[in-house]
Order: sequence, then C-alpha cells, then structure tokens
Amino acid sequence: MTRKIWVFDTTLRDGEQVPGAKLNLYEKLEVAQQLKKLQVDIIEAGFPASSTGDFQAVKEVASKVGNTDDIIITALARAVKADIDAVYNSVKVAVNPLIHIVLGTSDIHVEKKFGKSKDQILDIGVEAVKYAKTLLPEVQYSTEDASRSDFEYLWSTIEAVVKAGATIINVPDTVGFAVPEEFGELIFKINDRLKNLNDKVLLSVHCHNDLGMATANTLAAIKNGADKVECTINGIGERAGNAALEEVVMALHTRSTVYGAHTNINKKEIMNTSRLVSSFMGIDVQVNKAITGGNAFAHSSGIHQDGLLKSRDAYEIISPVDIGLDDMELVLTARSGRHAVKNALEKLGFQSLTAEQFEGIFQDFLALADAKKEVYNHDLYVLVENYYAKNEEKQDVTYSDYFYELIDLQVISNTTFPSASIHMKKGNEVLKSSSVGTGPIDALYSAITDACELEVKLVEYHISSVSRGKEALGKVKIQVEYKGQTYTAKATETDIMKASALAYINAINSIVVENLLVANERNESMSGLA
Ligand code: KIV
Ligand code: ZN
Repeated sequence: MTRKIWVFDTTLRDGEQVPGAKLNLYEKLEVAQQLKKLQVDIIEAGFPASSTGDFQAVKEVASKVGNTDDIIITALARAVKADIDAVYNSVKVAVNPLIHIVLGTSDIHVEKKFGKSKDQILDIGVEAVKYAKTLLPEVQYSTEDASRSDFEYLWSTIEAVVKAGATIINVPDTVGFAVPEEFGELIFKINDRLKNLNDKVLLSVHCHNDLGMATANTLAAIKNGADKVECTINGIGERAGNAALEEVVMALHTRSTVYGAHTNINKKEIMNTSRLVSSFMGIDVQVNKAITGGNAFAHSSGIHQDGLLKSRDAYEIISPVDIGLDDMELVLTARSGRHAVKNALEKLGFQSLTAEQFEGIFQDFLALADAKKEVYNHDLYVLVENYYAKNEEKQDVTYSDYFYELIDLQVISNTTFPSASIHMKKGNEVLKSSSVGTGPIDALYSAITDACELEVKLVEYHISSVSRGKEALGKVKIQVEYKGQTYTAKATETDIMKASALAYINAINSIVVENLLVANERNESMSGLA
C-alpha cells in the first residue's frame, strides 16, 4: 500500500488573489462544491479578514460544503487576533474546521517586512498558535518564505509552534525560488526532526511557479517525506501561480513506483473542475498546459497519429478517460427540454441549483439556443456564470436606479471613420451618445464614457472564443482605471460588440457600487458623530 498524500486546495484563496479572478459568493460556492466532488481533503476558502464579502463567502462554503465529515474547511489569517477571529467565526460551522496562520521566517520578512527581531517574530507566532488553539483543535502554521530562511531559525520556529499546539506545519516556497534537489533536501531535514518531535504533526508544502518548478518542487518534497501538498486548479495563483493540482496528482498516479504515494482525488473530475475554474475566473488555460490544456491529448503529426493507431501507449502516457474526458459531449438545442438541460448542468457539477435558479438559467438557455442553435458544455458554464452575476447584483444592491443598462448599440467599422452610437438607461433616465474613434471599440467605449460622464480609462481589452463553431460565444474581459484604481469586468455574448459594450458597462457599474459603498460608509460615520 502506498502512502496517502493530503491534498489542500487553495484555488479560492491563493488562486483568487490573481487580479481579475475574484469570484462572487455564488461562484465561490459552486467551485467549492466541485472541489468536494473532486475529493480534495482540505479547501482553503479565502482570507476572511480582507473583506466582509470574503468573510460571508467563507462562511457559506463552511456551512454548505463543509457540512460532512469527509472534508476540512480552512481560511487564512495573519498572526494577529483579529484575523484569527475572522477565520474562526467564518469556518466554525464546518464539521471539520481548521485555522491557517501565516508568518514569515526569512531575514527579508523578519527584518525588512516587519522591522522586528527574530525572537519577537517567533514569540508572535507562538502566541498566535496558542490563541488559535483556544478556539479550535486544528491549527496549521505556515512559515512564509521558508525556502529563503536560515535553517536553524526556521526549525526553532517550527519546534516552538508545534510545542504551542500547531497540528500542521506548512513550508512555503513563497517566491518560487527553490529548485527540486535543494527543496527536497530541506523537507528531508525538517521531516527528520519533526517526526522525532511529534509524529502526529503533518508536514506540508506550498510551492510557487516563478521558475516553472512548482510541480517539480512539490514532487521532490513528497519524495522526501512531505505528507500534504498545497495546490490550485490549473496552477493559478500569485504571479506565475502555484503548483497545479492536476499535475501533482497525475504525476503521483502515473509514476507511482517512483513516488510510492497516492491521493484521494477523484481524477475523473479533473477536467470538469479545470473548466469551471477557468470559466468563472475568466482565465484561459494555456493550450499546451500539462493535463488540462486544450492540446494535452491532441496528436497532430502524421508519425504520432500512425503510432497511436497501432498502439495508444506509443505516444500516450495518460488516458484522457482517466481525467474525465471520456464523456461524449451532449449537444443541446432549443428542443432539448428542461430534463436534458438539468442533466447536463448536473453532470458539469451544478447540483445545488434551486428551482428558481434553474428556471432562470433555463430561460437564458432557450434564448441562447434560439440564437446559436447548438449549445455546448462551455456555453452552459457561461449561462450559469451570467445568471449568478445578474443575481448577485439584484441581491447585494438595492440601488438599481444608479446602474447603467444597455438598450441598443450601433458600431460602424471602416478605415476612415470608425463610429459608434449607444442607447442606454439609468433608472428611468434614457442616455444616448455617439462618438468616433481610432477603431470600432475605441468609438464604442468613447460613446459609453460620454453617456455615463465618468472619467474611465480602458487599460486592457481581451477577447476570446468560448465554444466552437461560427456561432461561438465571445468572451470579453477588460480592465479599466478610475481615480487610480483598477476594475476588472467581463461579459459573454454571441455578438462580440455587445459583449464589449456589456463588459465596459459592467466595469462602470462596479465603480458605481464602490462609490455608493463609500458614500454609505461616510453617511454611517457622520450619523455616528451626531
Ligand atoms: O505563498 C505563500 O507563502 C502563501 C502562504 C499563505 C502559505 O500563500
Ligand atoms: Zn502562496
């Protein structure tokens, strides 16, 4: 029997830190449900001290996904009481809650980031663990920037926090600086001492991909005694990302004789999870990405195709069936009916839709099927995503009079005079504007900016095709700047000009929300003074 490696998924925390990847509460919950189906052992659902929205989302995940004994729910805290309280209060409803505390151990973190002595930082870490232990029995301690830390100081910290009650020690390669041989050696040394100190404590690793070695470092750590790995779906995460869950899991599976280890992951759910995360976060998977990239199982050269026809293992080390690519994709049409659509949604992981949510999505499906004739799995992800986006606006904000809505648009593209006219409304107010530009998008965005009278500047524009065929949906993702702050928004439509306009209007509405929240806060503090 091989050794079990615990899989800790941080897509909803480290992954969500990626600019523009922020999920709303519904999307977070949906991803968490899918992670449970994938059978990860631990979900890190967020950083609750960062915002009330994140606190609520972690709480929802803890109560709706963490409601069974087969999964642990955690969230991140800095080594301060307020953060630890926020984690405790958001995860405590889960059957198996865990508090995760992070504090740096490298000289750079201790001296430059905190401006404190090593002894002071060590004491802060120990006090944080002792406090967390008064709240919950399970506490993970992460020694941030461990791979660039002085080894003896790193060990003193680990020893002290274990004595204070930490039940998991996580060793991060925070800036992706380590190389496999060196990281393996570090984990070997820590594991040797840790198992002598307390063999119940799990040793974990958390690797970043700045030098493209996150997966290799994670595997080297497993080979040298790590019990647990921290990963994200599609490897998304800060900067160059984190170790990709699917790569680590499939490497352990495919090369089991090398690693002598296995995970509990339900590999057949890998592709579904990858697509869901990519779709909700609006981050495309690199086509040649290992395991989940669009070309990972495509064989194009004649020599390879010939070899494959003779024997699949000539050029294939993993069967696509193993990661969930076996199912024939069902193509839905306007005549498919509720049952077929519900079935298809459930297969993709959308199992917790209420009757009202399903009906809303089904109506959008009918409209799309009329326009597009054939609706694919990719389209269903978008329908759910759009529904959640609309729904969240309805739930969270009662100021619909302040929001901009698109009524119609006309865009003319030519070399001499690209122009656009826009027809919008804000509450009962009708807004119309026309503009010319250097190109059709420039003209369209100038017309919208004029109509809304907000000084918004487009910083980034990205368009991609979501599904196949000439009627494929176009996804537009943009970033705008307003008063020094950036806002990201997206929209998906069969008409790419409409998608472009909606993405821009969504970004403007985010600015409106922010302005309303600031105004509300100001009013509250004014009334507090009265
Ligand atoms: O990269 C890092 O060090 C982290 C910690 C919070 C584990 O994300
Ligand atoms: Zn990280």
